[in-house]
Amino acid sequence: MAMARFFTQFSLLLSSILVVLLPLTFSASDSEALLKLKKSLTNAGALDSWVPGSSPCNGPQGAWRGLVCQGSAVTGLRLEGMGLSGTIDVDALVGMPGLSTFSVENNSFTGVIPGINRLGALKVLSLSRNQFSGDIPSGYFVKMGSLKKVRLSYNKFTGEIPVSLARLPNLVGLHLQNNHFSGRIPSFDSPSLNSLNVSNNRLAGEIPSSLSKFSASSFVGNPDLCGEQVGFQCPSTPNNTSKNIIAALMVTLGAILFLMIIFFAIQWRTKKQEINLEVVQVQPCGSSNDAVEVPISMVAETEERTKSACSESDSNISNDGKPSVAELVMVNDEKGVFGLTDLMKASAEVLGNGPLGSSYRVRMANGVTVVVKRIRKMNALGSDAFDAEVKNLGTLRHPNILTPLAYHYRKEEKLIVYEYLSKGSLLYHLQGEGRESDGELDWPTRVKIVRGIAAGLEYLHGEFASRGVPHGNLKSSNVLLGPDYNPFLSDYGFYPLLDNGGLEGLFAYKTPEAMQKRTVSPKSDVYCLGIIILEMLTVQDGNGGTDIGRWVASAFSEGRQAELLDTKIKGCRNSVGSMEKLLRVGVLCTETSPEKRLGIKEAIKMIEDIHEFQIL
Ligand SMILES: *[C@@H]1O[C@H](CO)[C@@H](O)[C@H](O)[C@H]1NC(C)=O
Ligand SMILES: *[C@@H]1O[C@H](CO)[C@@H](O)[C@H](O)[C@H]1NC(C)=O
Repeated sequence: MAMARFFTQFSLLLSSILVVLLPLTFSASDSEALLKLKKSLTNAGALDSWVPGSSPCNGPQGAWRGLVCQGSAVTGLRLEGMGLSGTIDVDALVGMPGLSTFSVENNSFTGVIPGINRLGALKVLSLSRNQFSGDIPSGYFVKMGSLKKVRLSYNKFTGEIPVSLARLPNLVGLHLQNNHFSGRIPSFDSPSLNSLNVSNNRLAGEIPSSLSKFSASSFVGNPDLCGEQVGFQCPSTPNNTSKNIIAALMVTLGAILFLMIIFFAIQWRTKKQEINLEVVQVQPCGSSNDAVEVPISMVAETEERTKSACSESDSNISNDGKPSVAELVMVNDEKGVFGLTDLMKASAEVLGNGPLGSSYRVRMANGVTVVVKRIRKMNALGSDAFDAEVKNLGTLRHPNILTPLAYHYRKEEKLIVYEYLSKGSLLYHLQGEGRESDGELDWPTRVKIVRGIAAGLEYLHGEFASRGVPHGNLKSSNVLLGPDYNPFLSDYGFYPLLDNGGLEGLFAYKTPEAMQKRTVSPKSDVYCLGIIILEMLTVQDGNGGTDIGRWVASAFSEGRQAELLDTKIKGCRNSVGSMEKLLRVGVLCTETSPEKRLGIKEAIKMIEDIHEFQIL
């Protein structure tokens, strides 16, 4: 009996200890987080009450300045009008899950918008009356579905109003006035939006009908806006009949275009088949090997040439009378030394035709199988500079880089020879054409491939840091898989070799910046990396285009990203979290504007930081 009473008392005691301890432990972690935040701020004199060893919500003089508390839990930060600047340590705040309000209104913060979007539970966000500037990424608010009030007014934000902001389902109030936002006002989804101010920006175009309930005072100071509210009719849209005529015209034009495309496609196909046929017909030219050209170089040339190549030795002399470098120059002898003769004795098989040219598989007598790339429009450099450039490529050594073995240079013909990897390209596997014994790429293998690609790319960015674009042609068909699915990057470093026509064939020239402004940069490689990441994660089978970037971005801005993941990938059932993180990296890498896109270092760090990857 006494024993039982003892136990009851003991457990009572225990629970009262717990009751006392619990709030303390909570506030201890809040206090740590807040002190860490304070450290990242400059000019934080206003936060003198924030001192270690006191409880943020129940200090000797009450709560610390600027905190909103509920009981002993911090639910809001209202650091307003305190003259603060510096960086906001969002990392510290991530450890405060109870935080629902974050305001640094009326301070002196500068720079691009901080990563407050990592605080997914926020209901109120205010950065008003600071000196924040720069564009806000269009997907910035995607993971902030709880937001009700957003105030960014009186800053220097530029670019379009982020579309993810317009998709927030619970938005009640939005203040964007007195910034430099431009472009059109997106249509807002939230039915509860009842306070809106976009005055004094550089917005243009028609005010969306979803905002018709707001009056002129929400829109003033945007001279290029039109609509009833601002008393300025939008330029009259064509009436129905002219609309119909236009529509009919468009349909006709479309049909004509379609027929033309079909016509050219057929032409092209026929031509391609001819080329293939020729390859099959090409035979090694017998024993007088020294004087003849590579059989591959005869492909698609006239029959006359083919004949003369086999019978005459003067085909070795180029037009200017000098003997051309009609030989194979080894740049890397790790796979043995071979010459044109060895290539010629073997039979060539077409692997494919790409925008830069064609590639052939040649199995040589010495047991080495190589890929010979016959590259068009590689005419930017004379033979000496070409030699130096490709020899430099031949010195590259990295576990994820396929180093060229040899080249052949003539004025009218450039070949680059690589080792052939029997697993083929990543594209081939993503299209589900891996050998039956290999099956589909499982999730751990995909992770290994992504990490390897990132590592190889990082290496190239170190080696070719000063180039316009270090790799320049990163796409899944140029990632080759070794026997253990280790990825190898190939077809990199062509940027200085190609003439203007040739550059168009690089995948980096399919990026938005190249399409719009004809510029590329190291960030173009990041975009290409992003495309590969998206291809590896989504249900789409990679067909080497950049459309996937737009497709995923739009899904992201509509909050549909979870639907994109191909969770049927073998071995991924417990890895949806890491898939989502990687998807996010893919999206940030394929950001349309290079300024907003991740840099190579950031991208690689984000990939490496995906915790689950480190265990795989
Ligand atoms: C901004 O903060 C300062 C103090 O730093 C205060 O005097 C001023 O009234 C505040 N302005 C607004 C608009 O709140
Ligand atoms: C919007 O902001 C402008 C500029 O600060 C102000 O003049 C206007 O009254 C505000 N309108 C509303 C509806 O808040």
